[in-house]
Amino acid sequence: MSNKQKETIPKRKLGKTTIDITPIGQGVMQFAGGTTFMKFMYPALTDEQSNNIVKTALDNGINWFDTAEAYGFGLSEEKLSKGLKAANVDDKDVIIATKWMPMMRRAKSIKKTIQNRIKHLEPYSIDLHQIHMPYSFSSFQKQFDAMAEILDEGHIKSIGISNFSAKQMIKAHDILSEKGLVLASNQVNYSLIKRKIERNGVLDAAKELGVTIISWSPLQSGILSGKYHKDEQLFNALPYARKMRSKKQIRDSQDLINTLDSVADSHKATIAQIALNWLVNYHGDTVVAIPGATKASQAESNGKAMSINLTKTELNEIEEKSSMFI
Ligand SMILES: NC(=O)c1ccc[n+]([C@@H]2O[C@H](COP(=O)([O-])OP(=O)(O)OC[C@H]3O[C@@H](n4cnc5c(N)ncnc54)[C@H](OP(=O)(O)O)[C@@H]3O)[C@@H](O)[C@H]2O)c1
Repeated sequence: MSNKQKETIPKRKLGKTTIDITPIGQGVMQFAGGTTFMKFMYPALTDEQSNNIVKTALDNGINWFDTAEAYGFGLSEEKLSKGLKAANVDDKDVIIATKWMPMMRRAKSIKKTIQNRIKHLEPYSIDLHQIHMPYSFSSFQKQFDAMAEILDEGHIKSIGISNFSAKQMIKAHDILSEKGLVLASNQVNYSLIKRKIERNGVLDAAKELGVTIISWSPLQSGILSGKYHKDEQLFNALPYARKMRSKKQIRDSQDLINTLDSVADSHKATIAQIALNWLVNYHGDTVVAIPGATKASQAESNGKAMSINLTKTELNEIEEKSSMFI
């Protein structure tokens, strides 16, 4: 994609910050494949493979990447930085989101670990630092005090959360608001077959507060590409950790996949591209998505999904077919 074509992809503000992001970012949890708990889901990627994914994502218009401390304890962050350096990207031309792991930890670890995040990602700055889940031993007040401090010290540019309920998100927003700061985003599982945030108040609260919803597993680990519906052997070859629960999801989503397939045909697109495009357009600018990739061809296809224009009728037809998943 030429620079001119990239400019035609409309960017959005990340929450009420001044940070501009494309509707689709690149998730790089897979860069920690083969290590820690990730080895039960994804194989290791060589630097050549991960560099290729980073470059391909950028070449196809994606301007931001999502990683985390928990993804290989710095390995995913390091490989992301390596990939960006190999692609000759300037810090000012890319947006980086990472996360602090709160499990079994207190808020003081936010300040203690930020230097590790910086070291793994350098020379790239942290545009968004997220609390990975609402499970720290410390109160929200203490966690956001610490996040506000590292923001004030210039280590991060904005603050986000992940896997927070509506009530917890409102609390996070209010604590930051009292400090004159904004809550940029809440990263949650949201896809055409996981629409719980539409009934549990998370999406409504995000719209109300101007918080961006970052959808993790937007393809539900590849199920929404339709490849497992077409090829049972491919599904059987998956590691056990990825097969759990998926069999039912595949069975229940056959009708939806058929609809996505026919919409895809009329746009010369793929099922996965239509599923991603719906996700980042159906709710206006509120929802963005970070599909992961194990191959550069997936990053290319997922980036290109931003250029499809679904009609109102198509958006509504897909909504209706997937409404059983709300
Ligand atoms: N905040 C959180 O708690 C949390 C939790 C999970 C993930 N995340 C973030 O969200 C990102 C995405 O989540 P995810 O990776 O779990 O789920 P996902 O994006 O729904 O699925 C990614 C997987 O689907 C397959 N895939 C991707 N694009 C494809 C395409 N165009 N066609 C066919 N298959 C395709 C690939 O696996 P195969 O090649 O193996 O099929 C890829 O690894 C992660 O990288 C991470 O940054 C956050």
